Amino acid sequence: MTEIAFLLNGETVRAGGAPTRSLLDYLREQKGLTGTKEGCNEGDCGACTVIVTDPDGGLKALNACILFLPQLQGRAVRTVEGLAEGGALHPVQQAMVEHHGSQCGFCTPGFVMAMAAAHAQGRTDHDDQLAGNLCRCTGYAPIIRAAEAAEGAALPAWIDGDREKLAALSAQTTAGEAAQSADAAAAPAGGRAPYEPEAGRGSDATLTEAPGFIPENADELAAWYLDHPEATLIGGATDVALWVTKGLRALPETAFLNRCEDLKTVETGNGRIRFGAGVTMTRVMETVEAPYPSYAEMVRRYGSVQVRGAATIGGSLANGSPIGDNAPALIALGATIHLRRGDDRRELPLEDFFIDYGKQDRQPGEFVEAVSLPEGRDSFRVYKISKRFDQDISAVCAAFDVTVEDGTVTQVRTGFGGMAATPKRAAAFEAALTGKPWSMESVEAALPALADDFTPLSDMRASAAYRLEAAQGLARRYFAEVSGQRTSVLEVKA
Ligand SMILES: Cc1cc2nc3c(=O)[nH]c(=O)nc-3n(C[C@H](O)[C@H](O)[C@H](O)COP(=O)(O)OP(=O)(O)OC[C@H]3O[C@@H](n4cnc5c(N)ncnc54)[C@H](O)[C@@H]3O)c2cc1C
Ligand code: FES
Ligand code: FES
Repeated sequence: MTEIAFLLNGETVRAGGAPTRSLLDYLREQKGLTGTKEGCNEGDCGACTVIVTDPDGGLKALNACILFLPQLQGRAVRTVEGLAEGGALHPVQQAMVEHHGSQCGFCTPGFVMAMAAAHAQGRTDHDDQLAGNLCRCTGYAPIIRAAEAAEGAALPAWIDGDREKLAALSAQTTAGEAAQSADAAAAPAGGRAPYEPEAGRGSDATLTEAPGFIPENADELAAWYLDHPEATLIGGATDVALWVTKGLRALPETAFLNRCEDLKTVETGNGRIRFGAGVTMTRVMETVEAPYPSYAEMVRRYGSVQVRGAATIGGSLANGSPIGDNAPALIALGATIHLRRGDDRRELPLEDFFIDYGKQDRQPGEFVEAVSLPEGRDSFRVYKISKRFDQDISAVCAAFDVTVEDGTVTQVRTGFGGMAATPKRAAAFEAALTGKPWSMESVEAALPALADDFTPLSDMRASAAYRLEAAQGLARRYFAEVSGQRTSVLEVKA
């Protein structure tokens, strides 16, 4: 890949080599920073949590096991080794000691990094902030007590220090400069080449050797992708990294989109919200909080803080996942997907983008540039059913938006995930309800049509019968909530 430069615990490091090298492997194997632990290696346990600061100064907790090195270009990484300063523990570390927040300690570095990121952001919703960190022996109560005890403590000086150094780094870094000094800077005395595989590590066989491309804007990406249509585009890598760490796949050429600021914009106007493809799920959650509280509530359960901070809305649609949570919500909202190939742009209703399992309406060299949706529809709700509340994949995700005029249903839009090979509207159910009086009787009468719409699979998450019953139950719940017969979860929370 193009050599990259980033800050690691306050020092500038330059790195080259295979673009699908994970930050976790780099830290542990090349830098000897073994405080960052490998638990699951798939973004589920949080043991590998580090703090990443962006060039704009924004700071977040991310999972190092599903971050590829090129995603760090021009950013600052803090590991647990860089948390304490001047011989004094970080307030969350001190609180963990005082509140007995650690037993075996394997999870502890990940917890303290997630806690330190939340502390820096002034967050006090500790359950949500730590939902992506698993502990199997201490138990969560002492850890939450420690997080509470550290609330309001002074921020460490390295936060501002990293921000200042980042500004200097972005001023000085060009790919060329980095390339010239990369080998000399990265290879320790004695001369081990960057990314020399560790003997016996199976995953090294899967490291792609083709160079990674890091465009600075959408125009650069568009031009390059036309010439490299076989390349894998990488948004947040929360899917793609697992192809490498778990699927042991060597990727063809790769392009990393996270430097394209023009793909990270959120625009509102003319009654629409337009998300650039590179907008993270954290930002989506913040944006839809006011117009679509049930959508924001669903995204609160989308992975974890660490996953939402990396995952992009573009990646969540381009992957075509039949069990993804964004597509059902956006389909019911009548969202439009905006595609770009070179300088050619086209748009289509999101529901038409998903053709079949693993097949989307996307031409070679074409990428997702944005997705847009109406600004506010009070009648919209989305529900996620999963075995665990947090950090779990949906068995069923169902979204509804029913328009009623003078007591009669004039339009029904739905979106379902987990029910078919693609995220899909329930056409027969929608037709059965349209034109009927808006009542529970009409909903009940339309429910059997859901069985015509879907023949769900049975798998480890749910049986086909359960999925169908859950989908029908959610339609009843939707009616009860919007017609005021049942208090919604959101109202209970408020
Ligand atoms: C621990 C964990 C928990 C998760 N929980 C959930 C969950 O609760 N709900 C859920 O729906 N998903 C979940 N996911 C799945 C994943 O986070 C989402 O699908 C995510 O939104 C993918 O976005 P990304 O930017 O990381 O995609 P990437 O991994 O970067 O890319 C995914 C796919 O999209 C392509 N791609 C990316 N950007 C573009 C673009 N602009 N144009 C064209 N193609 C593009 C890539 O080539 C790839 O094929 C979870 C994943 C993990 C690891
Ligand atoms: S090792 Fe489990 S989230 Fe990274
Ligand atoms: S202290 Fe052992 S896993 Fe958390």
